[in-house]
Amino acid sequence: MNTPVYDFLERYAGSGTVRAHMPGHKGRSPEGCGFGAAFPYDITEIKGADSLYEADGIIAESEKNAASIFGTAATFYSAGGSTLCIQAMLAAVCGKGRSFICGRNAHRSVMNSCVLLDLDPCWLYPEYEDSSVVSGKITAASVEMAIERYRDKDPACVFITSPDYLGRLAPIAEIAEVCHRNSMPLLVDNAHGAYLAFLEDSFHPVALGADMCCDSAHKTLPVLTGGAYLHVGNESFIPEIKRDMALFGSTSPSYLIMASMDLCNKYLAEGFRSDLAETVKRVCDLKKRLAHLVLPDTEPLKVTFYAYPCGLRGYQLAEQLRENGIEAEYADETHAVLMFSSSSTGEDFEKTAFAAERLMCPRILLRPPQIEITEAVRAMSPREAFFAARETVSAEKASGRIAAESITVCPPCIPIAAAGEIIDENIIKILKMYSIFHVNVVQ
Ligand SMILES: Cc1ncc(COP(=O)(O)O)c(C=O)c1O
Repeated sequence: MNTPVYDFLERYAGSGTVRAHMPGHKGRSPEGCGFGAAFPYDITEIKGADSLYEADGIIAESEKNAASIFGTAATFYSAGGSTLCIQAMLAAVCGKGRSFICGRNAHRSVMNSCVLLDLDPCWLYPEYEDSSVVSGKITAASVEMAIERYRDKDPACVFITSPDYLGRLAPIAEIAEVCHRNSMPLLVDNAHGAYLAFLEDSFHPVALGADMCCDSAHKTLPVLTGGAYLHVGNESFIPEIKRDMALFGSTSPSYLIMASMDLCNKYLAEGFRSDLAETVKRVCDLKKRLAHLVLPDTEPLKVTFYAYPCGLRGYQLAEQLRENGIEAEYADETHAVLMFSSSSTGEDFEKTAFAAERLMCPRILLRPPQIEITEAVRAMSPREAFFAARETVSAEKASGRIAAESITVCPPCIPIAAAGEIIDENIIKILKMYSIFHVNVVQ
C-alpha cells in the first residue's frame, strides 16, 4: 500500500525549499523543543499537497486507500476528530431544523450539532445498568418502538453510539434492518471502534449496514490525536459530504494528522490484523484474570471495571492504578475504563494485571447509588436555550430551571441534562453523583 501524503511531506522536508508560506515556524522547531522532528513535516496547502475539502491529488488517493481497506463506498479524512464527522453527518442527513432519533448515550458533539443546526433530538433512552448514565443497552426492538413513537415528527434518521464509553456494543446489523425497513438512514458514532473492521469477522458499522459512521482513528489506531474517518456506506451521501465537512472544519487541517492516517493505511493493510488478534487475546486473558472486577461483555479492546462490588469507587480504583504507573482512560463514581490497542506491549498488560490483582479493597462493600434516569422534559429547543441569557447557579438550587447547555459527564461528555431541558430533583441527584456542583441555566 502506498503512502502518498507522507511521501510528499518527506520529499518536501528534504528539498531545502525556502518556505515563503505558512506556517510561521518554516519547518524549524523552537530551540530545545523536544518534538522538533515533527516541524519539517507540518505544512500547508502548497502546490502538490492537495487540499482536504477539495481533494483530487495525494489526499484523495490516500482516502481511496482507506476506503478500500475499510471496505466502504467512500472514506473521508477529518483532522477535527469524530466531532467534525458527527456535525457533517447530521448536516448532510438532517439539514437544518429537522428532528432525528438519537440514543441518549450520545457524545456532546451531537448536542452541539443540535445547537448549530437547530435540530430536534427525539431521545431513545437505553436500558441503563450498573448506576451509570454513560452507557446502556439499545436494541433493534427499542429502535423500532422509537420510530413508531416519533413518526409524527418525521425524523430524518436514527443516530446510535456504538461502542459506547463503557464498551457496550449495539446490535448494528439488526438496527440497520429496522431503519431501512422504515426508510430511514442509520448513522453510527463509532468513535471508539475503528479497529472493529479488522477483527476476524468485521464488526464495523458500515459492514453491518450503517449508511454512514465516524471512527476516531486516534482513539484505537496509531494515529495522531484529531485524526478521524467519515465512512460512507450509502453512496447517495458521497457527492455532498465534503461540503458539509468544510462547513465545520478548519481551512488549515493538520498535515501531520493526515500523514499519520496515510501511514496508518499501510499498517492496516499489512501487519495490523495479526497484531490486533494478538492484542484482543491479551485483553481477553486480562479480563479472565480480573473476572471478579470487570464487566464481561465489553468490546474487545476495553477493560471496564465495575468498582462497587469490591468496595471501591471508580475513581479510587483509578487512583490506585495511577499509583502503580497505570493511567486509566476514564473513571467515575462507579466505573473505571482502560483502553488498549495494538501499540500496547506485553509488559503493559503484565503491569496492569499485577496492579489490578493487588487492588486494596476495603472490607465494607459499597451499595451502588440508586439513580433513576427518567425521560427529560423539554422547555426550549437546544438552540434557543444555548443562545438565551444565562446564569450559573449551584446544582442544589437548580430544580425547575432550564439547562442553558448540555450538562455532561466530561469526559466522556454524555448528557445528564441537554440544553433546553428542565432540571428536576432526580437530575440533581445524578449531578451530585458525578460531582457536578454548578450548572448554567437560562435566566
Ligand atoms: C462516543 C464519542 N463520540 C465522539 C467523540 C468525539 O471524538 P473526537 O475526540 O475524535 O472528536 C468522543 C470523544 O471522546 C466519544 O467518546
